[in-house]
Amino acid sequence: MTSEPTTDAVPAPEPTGAAMRRGPFRWGDRVQLTDPRGRPATITLIPGGTFQTHKGYFRHEELEGRPEGSTVETTKGVQYLALRPLLADYVLSMPRGAAVVYPKDAGQIVTMADIYPGARVVEAGVGSGGLSMSLLRAIGDGGSLLSVERREDFARIAVANVEGFFGGPHPAWRVEVGDLADVLAAQREPGSVDRIVLDMLAPWENIDAAATALAPGGVFLAYVATATQLSRTAEDLRADGRFTEPVAWESMVRGWHLEGLAVRPEHRMIGHTGFLLTARRLGPGVEPPERRRRPQASAAATDPEDVARLAADAARVQIGDDYAPEDFGERGATEKKTRRAARDAEVIQRAAQRSALAAAPTLEGPSLEGPSGSEEGA
Ligand SMILES: C[S@@+](CC[C@H](N)C(=O)[O-])C[C@H]1O[C@@H](n2cnc3c(N)ncnc32)[C@H](O)[C@@H]1O
Repeated sequence: MTSEPTTDAVPAPEPTGAAMRRGPFRWGDRVQLTDPRGRPATITLIPGGTFQTHKGYFRHEELEGRPEGSTVETTKGVQYLALRPLLADYVLSMPRGAAVVYPKDAGQIVTMADIYPGARVVEAGVGSGGLSMSLLRAIGDGGSLLSVERREDFARIAVANVEGFFGGPHPAWRVEVGDLADVLAAQREPGSVDRIVLDMLAPWENIDAAATALAPGGVFLAYVATATQLSRTAEDLRADGRFTEPVAWESMVRGWHLEGLAVRPEHRMIGHTGFLLTARRLGPGVEPPERRRRPQASAAATDPEDVARLAADAARVQIGDDYAPEDFGERGATEKKTRRAARDAEVIQRAAQRSALAAAPTLEGPSLEGPSGSEEGA
């Protein structure tokens, strides 16, 4: 069976950021250069700019107006291949305040949290905005993403990074500076959110707020770095009683070396990034169905409720109420590094606005506004 295209369909408007991802290189574009050894470097094309290496330089003018996939040569004859970075490349090369969600995990999050076009999504924290871009792409211009971040300096970096990627503000995106529980209570009606994605140190602190905001059947997803955080989140979700049984997993991606007959896994890989956990919001007043197999937290306890309570207590004892990011192996960015990341991200953001305008000159110029609640205004 074939489906016939309808001839009278009105063409859909160009999705935000699409136009600047195709066509010849324009001023303001991010360009990923790959040297003969496969090493990448990312530049922003600016009039009068040069790319310097210890093996000579070339002028940005040599790339402007040329198609993606062109090569360019330094004054000492080294060739570079030039392409626009894909989303995964952009995220890994953009300025960072907080650590970003790795692209392999962002892909899992979009699929396993079932982020669909038009979905009403809430994420926290925003960090550097790495995950926000994948979420925005998945919900499209017709969805809504409320991204909440405690730290104003991180929110600023995230806004610059995301606008640098889309060429200006995304119509479905709103960034709020504050604590997730407060922002959710103030800005979202109970039962009005389809998906909640938490990438933060202590997702269990927001289970009540998430249960209140989620619609029946809505997905709760947490991304955590350590097994102790995972266990505490799972046990607190069970204890809350408004969610289905949590499901957890991790993903490992092993690259392959492809050279002649030497076709084999790479020797090195990223062994650990984080664990993912999902659970669904039950209907109002619905008791979670009884679980058949329960964890054996204690050999002596056989009553299912005792076992569940012991497991929850054990998870809480492991972490306690007094913990610091360093306890989970997190090294915070220094103030100096965060300020530099903000400056670099804002340079990319302004350049991308120029590229977006050149790519779609009929569009209204994107504003230079930042996150609401920050100095840059809403
Ligand atoms: C690892 S970063 C998030 C990275 C982000 N997902 C990305 O891909 O760029 C974690 C962030 O959560 C923020 N955070 C932690 N607890 C929070 C809360 N209760 N409400 C809002 N933000 C929070 C932290 O300030 C930090 O910036």
